[in-house]
Amino acid sequence: MTSQNVVVAITGASGSIYAVRLISVLLAANRTVHLVTSGAAGQVMRRELECDFPAVSAGESAWRAALQKIQQSPIALKWGFDTKQASTPFDPNAGILKVHGIGDYSAGIASGSFLTAGMVICPCSMGTLSAIATGGSTNLIHRAADVHLKERRPLVLMPRETPLSVIQLENMTRVSQAGATVLPSMPGFYHQPQSVADLVDFVVARICDHLHVPHTLMQRWGEA
Ligand SMILES: Cc1cc2nc3c(=O)[nH]c(=O)nc-3n(C[C@H](O)[C@H](O)[C@H](O)COP(=O)(O)O)c2cc1C
Repeated sequence: MTSQNVVVAITGASGSIYAVRLISVLLAANRTVHLVTSGAAGQVMRRELECDFPAVSAGESAWRAALQKIQQSPIALKWGFDTKQASTPFDPNAGILKVHGIGDYSAGIASGSFLTAGMVICPCSMGTLSAIATGGSTNLIHRAADVHLKERRPLVLMPRETPLSVIQLENMTRVSQAGATVLPSMPGFYHQPQSVADLVDFVVARICDHLHVPHTLMQRWGEA
């Protein structure tokens, strides 16, 4: 049986809203989301979405409430997420959300024997990309990514940086050769986006496709 577990890591690259949206879509698809956030991810979230992550110990309901609050915040409304509520409403009860501390190596996701359908790092900083490319494994995000590579399970990295140095390009090549999917936050414009929310959903849709999670985030090319 395919596992319903999906690991989501948020690191300190720009684009916190992608992660918020992705987690909501995974929960709506009744997945069990195992979430890990880096310290820098919290800094970026505060800067971009003017909110703080709850404490890891705050529990599932506090994290769900925070996700819901962000999507109904003035910033999210300005970006057009209110129009998404009709087609992809936020369901506060769907799925399961488990939050793990960045230093908690006793979490199941640190071991290959814990089955998952895959892992996504969204957004993925250049620092985390480098740690994965070199096998550093100095926090739970790096370790879980290492595990997904060694177990040959889907690992999707959504890096964000521009321009890119040779070191960063080589790190992307290296993780790609090791089996990861490098899926940058590069939305297309051929679907005539009307809002920031449309651009965000374009990328989240591609992540879901790579995790084999069904969604209705956007109309597929070639489908009327
Ligand atoms: C507001 C803000 C935006 C940032 N944007 C990026 C970015 O787009 N890409 C990136 O690689 N790092 C970015 N950084 C720097 C990373 O957060 C930093 O390199 C950090 O060490 C990454 O650590 P982590 O991988 O453990 O999250 C940003 C930092 C801040 C505060």
